[in-house]
Amino acid sequence: MLSPSMTRDADAAPRIEALRREIRRHDELYYAGDRPEISDAEYDRLKRELLRLEAAHPELATPDSPTRRVSGRPTEAFAAVEHRAAMLSLDNAMSAEDLREFEARLKRTLPGLPVEYVCEPKIDGLGVALLYEQGHFIRGATRGDGRVGEDITHTLRTVKAIPERLHGPLRAARTLEVRGEVFMPREAFTRLNASLEEAGEPVFANPRNAAAGAVRQKDPAITATRPLDIFLYHVSHCDPARFTSHWDTLEALRESGFPVNPRSTRCAGMDEVLASCRTIEEGRDALDYDADGVVVKVDDLEQQRRLGATSHHPRWAIAYKFAARQATTRVLEITITVGKTGALTPTAKLEPVELAGVTVSNVSLHNEDEVRRKDVRVGDTVLIERAGDVIPYLVQVVTSNRPRDAKPFRMPRRCPACGGSAVRPEGEAIWRCTNIACPAQLKERLFHFGSRRAMDIEHLGEVVIAQLVDRGLVHDFADLYALPVDRLAALDRLADKSARNLHDAIQTSKRRGLARLLNGLGIRMVGERAAQLLASRFGSMDRLEKASEAEIAEIYGIGPQIAQAVSAFFTEARNRRTIERLRETGVAMAEEGRHQGPQPLRGKTLVLTGSLRSLTRDQVKDLVIRLGGRVSGSVSKKTDYVVVGEDPGSKADDARRLKVEILGEEDFLRLVGRTP
Ligand code: IVH
Repeated sequence: MLSPSMTRDADAAPRIEALRREIRRHDELYYAGDRPEISDAEYDRLKRELLRLEAAHPELATPDSPTRRVSGRPTEAFAAVEHRAAMLSLDNAMSAEDLREFEARLKRTLPGLPVEYVCEPKIDGLGVALLYEQGHFIRGATRGDGRVGEDITHTLRTVKAIPERLHGPLRAARTLEVRGEVFMPREAFTRLNASLEEAGEPVFANPRNAAAGAVRQKDPAITATRPLDIFLYHVSHCDPARFTSHWDTLEALRESGFPVNPRSTRCAGMDEVLASCRTIEEGRDALDYDADGVVVKVDDLEQQRRLGATSHHPRWAIAYKFAARQATTRVLEITITVGKTGALTPTAKLEPVELAGVTVSNVSLHNEDEVRRKDVRVGDTVLIERAGDVIPYLVQVVTSNRPRDAKPFRMPRRCPACGGSAVRPEGEAIWRCTNIACPAQLKERLFHFGSRRAMDIEHLGEVVIAQLVDRGLVHDFADLYALPVDRLAALDRLADKSARNLHDAIQTSKRRGLARLLNGLGIRMVGERAAQLLASRFGSMDRLEKASEAEIAEIYGIGPQIAQAVSAFFTEARNRRTIERLRETGVAMAEEGRHQGPQPLRGKTLVLTGSLRSLTRDQVKDLVIRLGGRVSGSVSKKTDYVVVGEDPGSKADDARRLKVEILGEEDFLRLVGRTP
């Protein structure tokens, strides 16, 4: 990486060249590979240094400099889409002063005119252009290089927030091109990474990369499993034209069915803009998505037209960037933590450093490959970043400060907690401790078992768990329920009253039900959602234990990997014993209130072709599973019914050929007990 430096005239030319090369390389990584090496703040620094140098040395400016062009290039894999109007970038403001200067520039072009503004959170996602004809979604594209983007219609169609058909004022527009930002909500991002990590797959550095990765898929089925959302913020083309202000445009977008950011505000002047920027920045942690600034736009469209644009950005808008949440610090040690499934995760212990109001003293390095890719070593100076309230992560090593004797990191071959041997299964990124009696795993598992979204056992904290395990009082979940109050009261730092509270909390947790219990058991790959699906499909532990791997895999949203993990769990005699003991102590093994109705589809296999008017595909699948049936992808002699909706495919012909009973939408609804 380049370090910013003072540049004398004689050095300017090579420095400019080096900066351009470096920026182009990062553009490529950012847009084409979804795997950037440096943070946005770092990138902005490079870009600003180049801008400064080019301004000081106009003779060295070239038309193809990254400062003149919108960065990013379409990759080869998708069809190219030429944008109707270039998708420009935005100029940046780093301070209130920069915003005042922006206003001063506007006033020079619009002397004596009052200027109103709209402020919108600047979401750190993926800019897209959506084309509608007569109210129908026709095509979606990425920004690409600003002139030509990539056709991603197939994946955008799976984003539920993007309306297929418009209603309201824009329904009748002959052609309409709208722009917005596709993003992955933080919570979804955290969940996605947790499941990737658990499955031993590489994790995404931030929600932006996860969203970009999801949208730029060849197979839309993968996109469909990644929860994406969108906010629209610009109409780049509308025939017939119909707006006079940006604010009205946003309103019309909203009325037509597009999600529009509710935090957008209209401001009468620059003072209000500054106040709005402050409010949005202060509230950034409470947002469900990563925002990296506020976009300030001139409201009046006629004024926008008069202000025009450079080849890089419109002159009527500017992005006020939030203060960067980055810091550099030193790696003191790389330790290994043992997870509840025995996963060994390397963690960098840091010299404590203040980062946006919190003290950070360690960051997860996720797995061996991540450590290698970033080449993190003990003694290294590292750049860390906290985007929103997402857990801090290590952006990169500042290699220029590396101690000479720093050695590459090597994963231990033994579990640091129990000395058991560690293995890294073929094709996985995770090393695991193979000792099932590993006390570190047991502590993690108990902690998870008692956590809020599992069995919700209040007062069962880390300190208590450590003592219970270290004193040999608890060897598995079932032991918890046999603990008498006096045993608990004998633990350090637990007064009589607390011991009684903990005892009560443990006993109360017996009634949490099957879904929470399944989540709590910590079966590999089974988190809250999978646990709920299993509980609602099978209704009781008994039925689940008896189910075959194939039956489990049929549940929509479960898939073969999870099914295999579930079935492996129940094959293990030790696990079955634990469950038996849990049952004996009176822990509820069924899902109350669920699965008690009739099961008209018990044992039946259905195939769905075409779309139904009243239910989505996912809803049909959920319904069928809940009522005891299964949904298959192709018609065979074993198929019981083929449900035929609008625009059916060849499966309807297969059904006729194989003489399988065909159900229309109404027949189907009647069969499942719903009134058409
Ligand atoms: S307006 C001509 N508004 O930021 C319209 N952009 O750094 C220019 N972005 O390419 C864009 N939130 O992908 C606009 N409320 C918002 C935005 C926004 C995020 C993205 C957009 C743009 C990038 C520029």
